[in-house]
Amino acid sequence: METATTDLRPLRLGLLLLAATSLPALACTPEDLSAVPLGYNIDYETQVQPIFDLRCDGCHIGGAFGNLALDPGASYGNLVNVPADNPAALRDRVEPGDIDASFLFRKINCENLDGALGLRMPRNGPPYLSAVQQAIIMDWINEGAFPLADPDRIFGYPFDPRANATPF
Ligand code: HEC
Repeated sequence: METATTDLRPLRLGLLLLAATSLPALACTPEDLSAVPLGYNIDYETQVQPIFDLRCDGCHIGGAFGNLALDPGASYGNLVNVPADNPAALRDRVEPGDIDASFLFRKINCENLDGALGLRMPRNGPPYLSAVQQAIIMDWINEGAFPLADPDRIFGYPFDPRANATPF
């Protein structure tokens, strides 16, 4: 009997480690973006911010629903490495290099967001963001969520920044 108790120890340790290191899965049926050509070296100010200006105005620009302001000049600092306001998200709004760990991407790409995770954004959709707009945000995050594009950086990238993107 004593042996059986001892044998459980590694299992318990393993479960503890798993709980500490893995993100909880979020229910998500992703919209497929694979048909959109890869966008290298995405520039935040000229490619990502204009999407917010067009589609998040009134709620996150000149307002901060979800405690999130996306006004030009402020949005980057409110997104990157900032924990989501929604307690059910359990992840940052944007985690550089990891769309699975980025609540922003879930909010715009999941077709079935509901309940504790709130609704798909923009909340007044459909229409939601186009596949091209979603892919710009995806590639920006996967490439490191930098504040500025840098033509030299492209040589440091893996060949395909989407190769490591976690399918949900
Ligand atoms: C009509 C108003 C409205 C529009 C337009 C809108 N949102 Fe939201 N957004 C909300 C509300 C309300 C919440 C909080 C409830 C929820 O998550 O559904 C929210 C929450 C969020 C959150 C979660 C914030 C957190 O930290 O928990 C993100 C991310 C987000 N919105 C992104 C966007 C983006 C990106 C756009 C534009 C493409 C957008 N939203 C457009 C109203 C809106």
